[in-house]
Amino acid sequence: MYRTIPLWYKILDMETTEQTAFTSMPRIGDKAPDFEAITTTGRIKLSDFARDKWILLFSHPADFTPVCTTEMSGFAQRKKEFDALNTELLGLSIDSVHSHLGWVSNVREKTGVYFDFPIIADLDMKISKLYGMLQPNESETAAVRAVFFIDPKKKIRLIMYYPLNVGRNMDEILRALEALQISDKYKVAMPLDWKKGDKVIVPPPKTLQEMEARMKDDSIELVDFYLAKKELEL
Ligand code: BEZ
Repeated sequence: MYRTIPLWYKILDMETTEQTAFTSMPRIGDKAPDFEAITTTGRIKLSDFARDKWILLFSHPADFTPVCTTEMSGFAQRKKEFDALNTELLGLSIDSVHSHLGWVSNVREKTGVYFDFPIIADLDMKISKLYGMLQPNESETAAVRAVFFIDPKKKIRLIMYYPLNVGRNMDEILRALEALQISDKYKVAMPLDWKKGDKVIVPPPKTLQEMEARMKDDSIELVDFYLAKKELEL
């Protein structure tokens, strides 16, 4: 009797641990959970992939579906803009690599657009669950449309989740990526609808002395001490 109690306890504990591990929901600021995967360009390990670069890890619900085809085409057609932002694309869906290859070559044949970035074949759903891409009340078998912006230190910096029936906005993905990078470089924040070339927000003062200096600074557009904008020379 005494022996069976710890054994059952152990099994229950293992199940709990496993469930937690496989239905995690990474958050902004977390280290991107590491994984190994089979992709259309070979095996990858996230921690070794695209060193010193940003990574855009994005899921789509299924190959050979209309909205996904438009989205993946969007990523492929704007790949040069991602290259210019030192960013590697990494797609994912719960389909086999053979399905991915068939879809990639079909889209290329029909439209001339080539998805030459890696697409993960997440058939066992491990990565989808690890990244909270599988949201069972939306679908139990298809990943939602997620985008994880991962910086060169492999930290998650921005997350987007879209449902199955609404495609993402490529301008917004690029805008957000550029905003993150410029914010990091110049230690500023971006206001509503910011786009490259617009004024940026100067961090608020932390001391009375900084506040006094801020009020006398002619080089910034000042609404009050807590809201000030300036031009950036990019
Ligand atoms: C689509 O990409 O068109 C799609 C995929 C899964 C469910 C609904 C739409």
